[in-house]
Amino acid sequence: MFEASLTVDRDFALAPLDRRLFGVFVEHLGRCVYSGLYEPGHPTADEQGFRGDVAELTKELGATLVRYPGGNFMSGYNWEDGVGPKDQRPRRLDLAWFSTETNQVGTHEFMHWCRKVGIEPMFGVNLGTRGPDEARHYLEYCNHPGGTALSDLRRAHGAEEPLGIKFWCLGNEMDGPWQICQKTPDEYGRIAKETAKLMRWVDPSIELAACGSSAYDMPSYGAWEDRVLEHCFEQVDYLSLHSYFVKPPADTSTESFFAQIETNARYIEDTVAIADAVATRKRSSKRLMLSFDEWNVWYRARHGEHLKQAGWPEAPRLLEEVYTAEDALLIGGMLTMMMNHADRLKVACMAQLCNVIAPIMTEPGGPAWRQTIFHPFAQAARWAHGDVLRPVVKSPGCANAKHGELPWLCASVVDDASTGQTAVFLLNRHLTEEMDLGITLRGLGAGRELVQAEQLHSADLHAANTIDAPDRVAPQPLAGIAIDGEQLRVKLKPASWNVIVTKAVRA
Ligand code: AHR
Repeated sequence: MFEASLTVDRDFALAPLDRRLFGVFVEHLGRCVYSGLYEPGHPTADEQGFRGDVAELTKELGATLVRYPGGNFMSGYNWEDGVGPKDQRPRRLDLAWFSTETNQVGTHEFMHWCRKVGIEPMFGVNLGTRGPDEARHYLEYCNHPGGTALSDLRRAHGAEEPLGIKFWCLGNEMDGPWQICQKTPDEYGRIAKETAKLMRWVDPSIELAACGSSAYDMPSYGAWEDRVLEHCFEQVDYLSLHSYFVKPPADTSTESFFAQIETNARYIEDTVAIADAVATRKRSSKRLMLSFDEWNVWYRARHGEHLKQAGWPEAPRLLEEVYTAEDALLIGGMLTMMMNHADRLKVACMAQLCNVIAPIMTEPGGPAWRQTIFHPFAQAARWAHGDVLRPVVKSPGCANAKHGELPWLCASVVDDASTGQTAVFLLNRHLTEEMDLGITLRGLGAGRELVQAEQLHSADLHAANTIDAPDRVAPQPLAGIAIDGEQLRVKLKPASWNVIVTKAVRA
């Protein structure tokens, strides 16, 4: 057993937490859409063919925002293929995933699903094979009230009112050689700028995200951001980050797996520094915000047949990563880190939502279940409301070659002044020792009562949830929390993710 402490003070708030940090991602890839969200004929399907069990799990996950329709798919997508009578929609080769796209789900169907689950859409435009002209037309089709050919076409397709899609991504991972029509930073920066300009003229109320690098370790990281922003800094609101956490065969230790929390913190901070350097160069007081619009663990199903199957199949099983308890702990730690960057990180999307590197799995005609990573995300999305308070952590730790000393404790605290409720998120990343933790919640009211306390822990770090054992890894009540005024004391199991919610006792 070792001791650690966490202190926060109401006067030391970092920033309001943007609830769009709990976004997810739905791509036309593998079985994410087809036989994931959408499966006509499934016993739970609604009149439009969307699975009710997946919709219910998405609500339980608490996702606030959904990025669509890709990913790499976006860079070859013709939005016109996905509107109008379904029986007239073309089947197309999807060059991103070497699959056949049937276009049975398109803009209107996806918006129906968004309304069904109560989630905000974040759409992307194709800046791979297409460009500013299609982007402005797509936006006009979606958001213009009526009286033009495209907005009236939308109305003819059954949507009298504008779809009101406010958040748009300007392409996807345009730096990557795997991307359909990869671009240089100058090519992309120019096209992003002109596309943004046209889209804002169509609808000034939209928000726009430009593509940052597709990963922190891309050789062009940094130079890409700098050059792209040189062109489009004034026209965009967000810059994107993407990160998939890996466990390289050469270093399979859980400690270095968890050190990706620090690596990604540095990725955010470095990207902020680059954006601010561009602002300085341009003598601008504007502060660009970040959109971490793809993040997750992804390394097992990342090669060979997991990425590509022969014969242009429809909705093949691709990227169907099975997550473990260890993965769920890293996801919890990542969530604390992202909350602790709430001053500049406003949007994040776990990639993806269903079947494809996803918290929700389905079997065609069968059940849907929660992967291990579902749980920390759902807990954070449920309880994190209000302002992120700056955490002062005192904890022993271990030495890491890249980051120096890594404290065993990762923590974030979010306080909702309107309800008096404070949520504390805690990862004990020591694998064998219990943590004796003292928590001080200063300035939040001397008397506190417990609202909720849960722990995610598995004696077997490799345990997973499967169709036959869907609840093997799931949160359990966390007992033994002592509350004394503004002090809390609790023991956290080794390798555990914990959520403690307390409320100020009103006199
Ligand atoms: O999420 C899977 C893929 O990963 C996305 O299509 C792409 O943007 C990223 O490389």
